[in-house]
Amino acid sequence: MWFDCLGALVIIGIVCWIYRWRNPRCNGKLPPGSMGLPLLGETLQFFAPNTSHDISPFIKERMKKYGPIFRTSLVGRPVIVSTDPDLNYFIFQQEGNLFQSWYPDTFTEVFGRQNVGSLHGFMYKYLKNMVLSLFGPASLQKMLPEVEKTAYGRLQQWSCQHMIEVKEETASMIFHLTAKKLISYDSESSSENLRESFVSFIRGLISFPLDIPGTAYHNCLQGRKRAMRMLKNLLQERRMMPRKQQNDFFDYVLEELQKEGTILTEAIALDLMFVLLFASFETTSLALTLAMKFLLENPTALKRLTEEHEAIIRKREDADSALTWKEYKSMTFTFQVINETVRLANIVPGIFRKALRQIQFKGYTIPEGWAVMVCPPAVHLNPAKYEDPLTFNPWRWEGMDVHVASKQFMAFGGGMRFCVGTDFTKVQMAVFLHCLVTRYRWQAIKGGNTVRTPGLQFPDGFHIRIWEKESLAKREN
Ligand code: HEM
Ligand SMILES: *[C@@H]1O[C@H](CO)[C@@H](O)[C@H](O)[C@H]1NC(C)=O
Ligand SMILES: *[C@@H]1O[C@H](CO)[C@@H](O)[C@H](O)[C@H]1NC(C)=O
Repeated sequence: MWFDCLGALVIIGIVCWIYRWRNPRCNGKLPPGSMGLPLLGETLQFFAPNTSHDISPFIKERMKKYGPIFRTSLVGRPVIVSTDPDLNYFIFQQEGNLFQSWYPDTFTEVFGRQNVGSLHGFMYKYLKNMVLSLFGPASLQKMLPEVEKTAYGRLQQWSCQHMIEVKEETASMIFHLTAKKLISYDSESSSENLRESFVSFIRGLISFPLDIPGTAYHNCLQGRKRAMRMLKNLLQERRMMPRKQQNDFFDYVLEELQKEGTILTEAIALDLMFVLLFASFETTSLALTLAMKFLLENPTALKRLTEEHEAIIRKREDADSALTWKEYKSMTFTFQVINETVRLANIVPGIFRKALRQIQFKGYTIPEGWAVMVCPPAVHLNPAKYEDPLTFNPWRWEGMDVHVASKQFMAFGGGMRFCVGTDFTKVQMAVFLHCLVTRYRWQAIKGGNTVRTPGLQFPDGFHIRIWEKESLAKREN
């Protein structure tokens, strides 16, 4: 009898709980959608791999069923998904006011609790200025020769090999450049390999958060620990022997830490450095790998790009002189290629925020505390805005209205949290492409297939053979 009662109560409890799960409380009208299974929500469907470049089936199916704004549940959190340009714009504009940056707990765990993503208000602006000054135009201008030299050096090495894997090699190149810039770490002459720690970190980044030996998540946390230890040692070393100023991030940090009343701590600085190193080389190398694939598949675009860069060299007094900032600024078609590549790449498939208050939008209510995910692929692959959206067509950016473009292009985010690395990425991509197309040609050997989980991946790499062209001068004689 007792047990029957208890059993009945437990069952009633569970039924109520499941009912609540499926029908979350809200004073107003929630966007339509399904909360999926209790606890798990629709997490598995969201992360299901797919080979298409199109909007992920998860998003596409729900857009069809529910419209541009819908609700779901991911990694244990209720989420409103926005594929609506007006809501996206609203979310970006209201950053820090109605919405605040928020990433799933697995992200916070692996990136450290005090990274830029989860810092707000004053601290956040302060760090942002520091990063911007490091990657601002003046600083990038100074970097140009270094980027060019590195690109030529790597290309030369690659052309001596039978086959190279582009994703791995470009990641190594970008990491080298960024680490040098941020912490004066020379990956080519260092005994410990900082990047290796990052590689195991990345493999487990978007994985099921089960921290036991053998899982990808466990290796991810271990990789982070190793990298953090190395960064810490590097900072310590610098503190012990203040060499002549390198004008890098460490100098900045050490100087700040000595100031009175500073809010910067060593832990925050190390977290930030980790995020920056990670954010820079993985994203840019994905974009470069994809650009090389698209260019091979589109000989007309490759031809046009090559002409642009050969013209730059032809205009010089000395063909072998270094790339100038003015030349960089003149690479119109190259920037179209870059825009088109990152539009199709959708390297960041979801931008997450948290609603700080209850919000009304287009007749729907977004409850306080819910997560909101802006979905850039739904914008970038919308056939109403981009004709034939899955085709690589750099010419589509010609004469594109900048105001239209700003709402329809969010590869680097939008509003206050716009990617601080945008210009840095563009410099690295444009300079690399310049070196590549003027002196080299390449051919696909194997791989190059992409999978989205929903982040872009090259599961079996992209293997190519690369040759030096006969020099420009020789061809013209
Ligand atoms: C193809 C290359 C890249 C893409 C597609 C990309 C994309 C993005 C996006 C979409 C955001 C906004 C995230 C949000 O609103 O929550 C962002 C933010 C950020 N990116 Fe990038 N990024 C790239 C390269 C870089 C590089 C090279 C760096 C570092 C030098 C970098 C550093 C950052 C940082 C620090 C933030 C956070 C800014 C903030 O919260 O205010 N990114 N990026
Ligand atoms: C990808 O999505 C399409 C459309 O929903 C589906 O038909 C296909 O089976 C999915 N799987 C893979 C591995 O591409
Ligand atoms: C690339 O996109 C950005 C953002 O919309 C735009 O401002 C820029 O003009 C575009 N570049 C080219 C070459 O079209």
